[in-house]
Amino acid sequence: MLKNKNIILGVCGSIAAYKSAFLVRLLVKAGANVKVILTPDGANFITPLTLATLSKNPVYTQYFEEESGVWSNHVELGLWADLIIIAPISANTLAKLATGICDNLLTAVYLSAKCPVYVAPAMDLDMWKHESTQFNIDRITAFGNVVISPGSGELASGLFGEGRMAEPEEIVSFLDNSIKKLMPLFGKKVMVTAGPTYEAIDPVRFIGNHSSGKMGFAIADELAKLGADVTLVAGPSAQKSTEILNRVDVTSAEEMFEACNTFFENTFITVMCAAVADYKPKTIATHKIKKQEHNLVLELEKTIDILTSLGKRKKDNQILVGFALETNDEETYAKSKLEKKNLDLVILNSLNDKGAGFKSDTNKITIFNRALEKTVFELKSKTEVAKDICEAILKIIK
Ligand code: C5P
Repeated sequence: MLKNKNIILGVCGSIAAYKSAFLVRLLVKAGANVKVILTPDGANFITPLTLATLSKNPVYTQYFEEESGVWSNHVELGLWADLIIIAPISANTLAKLATGICDNLLTAVYLSAKCPVYVAPAMDLDMWKHESTQFNIDRITAFGNVVISPGSGELASGLFGEGRMAEPEEIVSFLDNSIKKLMPLFGKKVMVTAGPTYEAIDPVRFIGNHSSGKMGFAIADELAKLGADVTLVAGPSAQKSTEILNRVDVTSAEEMFEACNTFFENTFITVMCAAVADYKPKTIATHKIKKQEHNLVLELEKTIDILTSLGKRKKDNQILVGFALETNDEETYAKSKLEKKNLDLVILNSLNDKGAGFKSDTNKITIFNRALEKTVFELKSKTEVAKDICEAILKIIK
């Protein structure tokens, strides 16, 4: 969740500042871009060199460098950040946040920022318990900031009790979970089908199609990035996903039907992107069919239309999205699929559009919603197309 996030780490004057070095390392390891701001007293506890080396960015300690006159713009820094974590926050900086005192770069950035702010206090037991500290904690919480509570244990003073800064690992997992909870599809179960299906003729041959799975995988990845708990039901495909934990590999339409049936009941959103075979051989030869002198006739029978069967079962609180890949009368077919299959959205891609459809890395789609309103999109990468589809789904939810 922290990957590519811009994070400002504020470090105040506390012996727990030594833990900030570990925190920077973990944040960078998680893929975040980290910029550190040290308060003047924070710089007494840990050197800018340590934090600059670990964060791979210069450390900010003041508004400007005395010798060079280089100016650190607090407004720009505040707006750059996707989140601010002040760890450790001292009783002094806590009081400044609570009252709006702005006498150093960190407090100025705090006041300029629009992003979520997290603080991990570290102080001696009695300072932590003091009414004024607790009053300030309540105050900054009322402003919408989030406090990562200190733990109990031996304190630097020798006292034993509450006041130890949360461990860096705990802070990182706290931030990770908080980001997840803010995501629009957090905790929602979603199913996506992708790729072709293969219908066996004999042990070595099958009827298949040119679907690569790229579009379905891209949709599954985007839904996961929105916080959804995604199950990807994939036909034979060389695609890989870094986002999806629950991938169910299937081969035939029948196997895909069984997998979809198992998961559909509990899904909030289902996107059927797979190019499912419409016909399969009526019988599968148990041995390889030998070459014969004459032509070979295969009898095909219809497969189950998975989407239609899910459309019949769909409840009011479920969203069902289907695809229509057409070569002629595209809009008429797409709209009739939306109605016949009881869909909330139908995504039309026409094989007449250059760069759309199978195998390519791009696609050009038109989306119809239940009111048959039409949105036409430009030719884009499949990742961008997946974002447009997710956006259309989020619009229904809103
Ligand atoms: O009717 P048509 O095959 O064009 O519909 C395409 C849509 O139906 C796609 O969303 C596809 O995933 C789904 N489909 C299905 N089961 C089939 C055939 C298509 O779920 N047997």
